[in-house]
Amino acid sequence: MSHHTRYTMANGAPVPNDDVSLTAGERGPLTFDNWRLFEKLAHFNREQIPERVVHARGSAAFGTFTLSDDLSDITIADFLNKAGKTTPVALRFSTVAGGQDSGDNVRDVRGFALKFYTEQGNYDIVGNNTPVFFIREPSKFPDFIHTQKKDPRSNLVNWQNRWEFWANHPQAFHQVTILMSDRGIPYSYRTMNGYGSHTLSMWNRDGERVWVKWHFKTNQGIQNVTDEQALTLAPDHHQRDLFSHIENGDFPSWTVKLQVMTEAEARAYRINPFDLTKVWPHADFPLREIGQLELNRNPDNYFAEVEQLAFSPSNFVPGVGASPDKVLQSRLWSYADAHRYRLTANYAQLPVNRPHCPVNHYQRDGLMAGMHREDGQYSLTNFYPNDRVENGAPVPAPEFIEPPMPLEEEAWVGYFDNSEDDNVSQAGNLYRSFDEGQRERITNVIGSTLVDVSASVQQRVIAICSAADPDYGTRVEAALAAHTQKAVSDHI
Ligand code: HEM
Repeated sequence: MSHHTRYTMANGAPVPNDDVSLTAGERGPLTFDNWRLFEKLAHFNREQIPERVVHARGSAAFGTFTLSDDLSDITIADFLNKAGKTTPVALRFSTVAGGQDSGDNVRDVRGFALKFYTEQGNYDIVGNNTPVFFIREPSKFPDFIHTQKKDPRSNLVNWQNRWEFWANHPQAFHQVTILMSDRGIPYSYRTMNGYGSHTLSMWNRDGERVWVKWHFKTNQGIQNVTDEQALTLAPDHHQRDLFSHIENGDFPSWTVKLQVMTEAEARAYRINPFDLTKVWPHADFPLREIGQLELNRNPDNYFAEVEQLAFSPSNFVPGVGASPDKVLQSRLWSYADAHRYRLTANYAQLPVNRPHCPVNHYQRDGLMAGMHREDGQYSLTNFYPNDRVENGAPVPAPEFIEPPMPLEEEAWVGYFDNSEDDNVSQAGNLYRSFDEGQRERITNVIGSTLVDVSASVQQRVIAICSAADPDYGTRVEAALAAHTQKAVSDHI
């Protein structure tokens, strides 16, 4: 008797032969009863699903968050109470602009999307490797991304499109200054920091809310590469590096820190704390260390556990919440919508997205609804309220009602233009913190990418850099002139 694993059809029945198909005679055509062949070919046609519209190319791993500081002073969040508590996590890193089969070593922001599988549900922090973002107005996001991705006609990266967007949005220049700096190309996903970027919130048992920013500091040390060094790395270096280190037991980790601001401090602070293009200077709001994040397990199946891994900034648990940041607010809606399109209505039931705690609600059915009573997760009742609470029908928990969120101003509904809200001072501060070598390199990168861009955009970029810091503008202008000269001499 054979001890081999039996090869079966999707219905579980044994496959007697997968080497040849049924044909009419040795040389003859296929017959219509080739259901085994047809099942195989039909499933193959459906192996792919839409890739993420942004952050399509990524790598993920699983691990643990260990709390080192009890945060019950600022939050009731179960996973943040009681030092020493551990919570399973999934962390997906990504590039932003490229498709799933693009290269890893590009000058681009990196995604840093973290899912805490807490005992009170999944909490997602869907951040980046930078503490700020290009825009503070969400309606600009699709336009912005169109300029970062391939040009619709040439199907190539187009620096005119990119710089034209940035020149028209000086608010982008803090992030542009990070992107064009040494941090623009991380050596690997292990050697970069992560940031929640947005201002988020926490609230405690007394109903007091604080605003927080999350920081994840790499314990591997920051390591970046130049454009030239990037060309020497394997195109799939990020995936290779992360996968092999974890496979070899060399687990990457990050020290987790928070900046905390009270509501009263927020009202008085000179910087709008909900402006995603701004950091909170550490001198004003020092970092509080709260724990360690370690990645120690590779996915068993990339498609099931990474391609289908679905994050949303709206995945909150009791004790944590959003903030009035307009970009965050739009993201609270956008991600679940993307998942419903990409993974269908019941994406939350996929094993990698399923909370590690019971799920009990009255939503039912839909495409690929896989959970039934036998999971012990759904009660028989599909309506609420009902008279069946004693039989286990789920009821809301009023003790978790979030304290009302304050509006910090006399709030009239309308279109408020914030495009002129101090676009350059933090870009300037960052530039001034660079040493000579860093200044040389960033202005050289900007100059080289501006060469083929229209004169009007070049001039506006130089003007915005100059407004951030005169030396910044002067050097970009000089670098552009040098690269233009070189481009000309290369052609004669
Ligand atoms: C209006 C602003 C934004 C919109 C509408 C938006 C929308 C999206 C969408 C639709 C996806 C694909 C989701 C999927 O199919 O799984 C995505 C992915 C992502 N976004 Fe955003 N985004 C915005 C801003 C941001 C910001 C500010 C950050 C970081 C601070 C960010 C970080 C990410 C990350 C890390 C991913 C990949 C998540 C993963 O690994 O699956 N996005 N975004």
